[in-house]
Amino acid sequence: MRLVGLDQINGTEVLGKPIYDIDGRRLLNSGVSLRPAIIQKLYEKGISSIYIDDDISEGIEVNSLLREETKNHAKLIVREEMHRLSHKSTLDYSRLAGVVDSILEEILSRKIEMINVKDVRMQDEQTFAHCVNVCVMSIALSARLSLTVQKVKSIALGALLHDIGKALLPPSLLNKTDALTESEMTEMKKHPIIGYNLLKDNADTPATTKVAVLMHHEHVNGTGYPMNLTSDKIHYSARILTVCDEFDTAINDKKNENVLRTTDAVEYLIGASGHIFDKSIAEEFIKMIPIYNEGSIVLLSNGIIAIVVKNNPVNLTRPIVRAFYNPKTKTKYSKVHIIDLRTELSIKILRELKVNVNEMIDS
Ligand SMILES: [Fe+2]
Repeated sequence: MRLVGLDQINGTEVLGKPIYDIDGRRLLNSGVSLRPAIIQKLYEKGISSIYIDDDISEGIEVNSLLREETKNHAKLIVREEMHRLSHKSTLDYSRLAGVVDSILEEILSRKIEMINVKDVRMQDEQTFAHCVNVCVMSIALSARLSLTVQKVKSIALGALLHDIGKALLPPSLLNKTDALTESEMTEMKKHPIIGYNLLKDNADTPATTKVAVLMHHEHVNGTGYPMNLTSDKIHYSARILTVCDEFDTAINDKKNENVLRTTDAVEYLIGASGHIFDKSIAEEFIKMIPIYNEGSIVLLSNGIIAIVVKNNPVNLTRPIVRAFYNPKTKTKYSKVHIIDLRTELSIKILRELKVNVNEMIDS
């Protein structure tokens, strides 16, 4: 299985993972042939990438931290609660806490070494999918930082609720596709305070959760908002959240434009750590991000094109890969051509390729 852009499909592939609509209904089953009519339907839903099974990716598994059912349920509850908030100005806090409990139970029941951070999203579920993804990442990161389960839970809740204040902003502002004007930007920047005010008098919400929502856009160099706080004035829960929030936005862009490759997003984190992000938190986060996701197509330094089979948690730039094509000699390799970059130190990955593999081999 591998994740590809819809523009990289040539019709011989089958769907690798089922696709659900925003209400959790299964739109397409895995194993469905990706005929042009189906691709068109996916485009219409605002989906730009999907998991496929094809010859090249045979035998490769892509694991995410959360089961699809749990993820769908979480998205649904976040959507319903944001909707309720914008219409009636009330929030059923216990439902959201229940979502966090089910996510926590699933994630913390196993050892987390890496987080697969790419997500397949429909246009109309971007906001909720983002909240759930930030929640999953912040749990993994908080657990890695050896925080107590209670603290992890408070931060996870903050992650799920971090943009809740946006529910009270005008929809025209949230849905605007052009760049925001200065006054619109000022309005938008109120969402952490609005979110905090919604939660501050709720006795069931932990203080850590409230402060995480309030401070999730603060930067350690003082350039963030709403209070321009610096370094240790920013609560650690918010420093964790900022890293996860910005990373998810970088790799799963709202309008499916300007999506960074994982390598570029990690480079951004490294460059901004100590300025925007807490350095030690960003460093720990980067250790959990597979630079090359399993199933990615990569160009090796010996000119051969390979697919990433299995990541190596100790060194994320040197996974096990399977060579399949040499464009210079036009040689195709059989599936036994495995290269373990942990031991094959004379070869390295130059970069990830976003290409239509079949077209490349046939040309
Ligand atoms: Fe935000």
